[in-house]
Amino acid sequence: MSGERPDRNLAIEIVRVTEAAAMAAARWQGRGEKEAGDQAAVDAMRTVLDTVEVAGTVVIGEGEKDEAPMLYNGEHVGTGAAPEVDIAVDPVDGTRLLAEGRPGSLAVMAAAPSGSMFDPGPCVYMEKLVVGPDAAGAVDLDLPIGDNLAAVAAAVGRDVQDLTVVMLDRDRHADAKRQVREAGARLQLITDGDVEASIVAAWEERPQVDVLYGIGGTPEGVITACAIKALEGTMLGRLWPRSDAERDQALEQGYDLERILTADDLVRADDCFISCTGITQGNLLRGVSFNRLGATTESLVMRSKSGTVREIRARHRLSKLREYSAVTY
Ligand code: FBP
Repeated sequence: MSGERPDRNLAIEIVRVTEAAAMAAARWQGRGEKEAGDQAAVDAMRTVLDTVEVAGTVVIGEGEKDEAPMLYNGEHVGTGAAPEVDIAVDPVDGTRLLAEGRPGSLAVMAAAPSGSMFDPGPCVYMEKLVVGPDAAGAVDLDLPIGDNLAAVAAAVGRDVQDLTVVMLDRDRHADAKRQVREAGARLQLITDGDVEASIVAAWEERPQVDVLYGIGGTPEGVITACAIKALEGTMLGRLWPRSDAERDQALEQGYDLERILTADDLVRADDCFISCTGITQGNLLRGVSFNRLGATTESLVMRSKSGTVREIRARHRLSKLREYSAVTY
């Protein structure tokens, strides 16, 4: 037994950041304005993030400084006090889901010791395979999907036909869809939001889905890795260049495009933190609801070092907050 006393769990502090982003974004549900919803979340996130006692650098953000006025890659956030941390944000994962009022959009933020988060360079997309703890270690990205499904079924003691695979509904997945169908598993296609889908696949508290497979965003992949480490599932990834030019650029910069990346490669630290708050109603979390007293939010906060996963339901008295808060609720 080592004698370490409980130390700071940043996840419990950053939940306020994702709650604020979710509440601000939720006002834009179904209004058809992707950018406005995202901007509202970014503004709220930035304001609350600056009160968190960290010297944070955004490494997975809204893009480059010139395109993004806030939460751009390289931006310093937090109060500037130690510890130094890498910050990954996705103020709205599923901007289109939010704009169209569909289920599954989340406000997400992760933090990890400085220098530990993977830099995807020019690669916007990666192939991802995610399973929960019961099937951890059973999968291999080099094997055909059918073989992986057979291995997962054996590991969890079920038939392949009892497994559900979640996948982004994209043309690039035509072959993968065919393989899942041929293997006999059930398929759930989603229009967006593979962070939510990955967490649902890995978290035994949400048994609707067993496997996430498909090509999605690399920023979302790094964020997802923080959750998978806390949930003790398995995440495997491989960079997936969109074009020959992107491939050449990645190779020039020294990226190995064959390499299978694990959650530990995507976040090279044992102590990482993640918070996500539902914006629209979803499979993982309830969305923001507004009522006479204000708003309620539901969040999931996790720390990889301890493996603690908390579900936090909060009631926010918006009338009180409006009296003093710099965030527009
Ligand atoms: P945004 O909220 O940034 O639009 O991302 C939504 C999302 O569905 C992610 O969850 C996913 O990783 C990515 O987009 C997939 O990219 P694409 O829509 O280009 O296939």
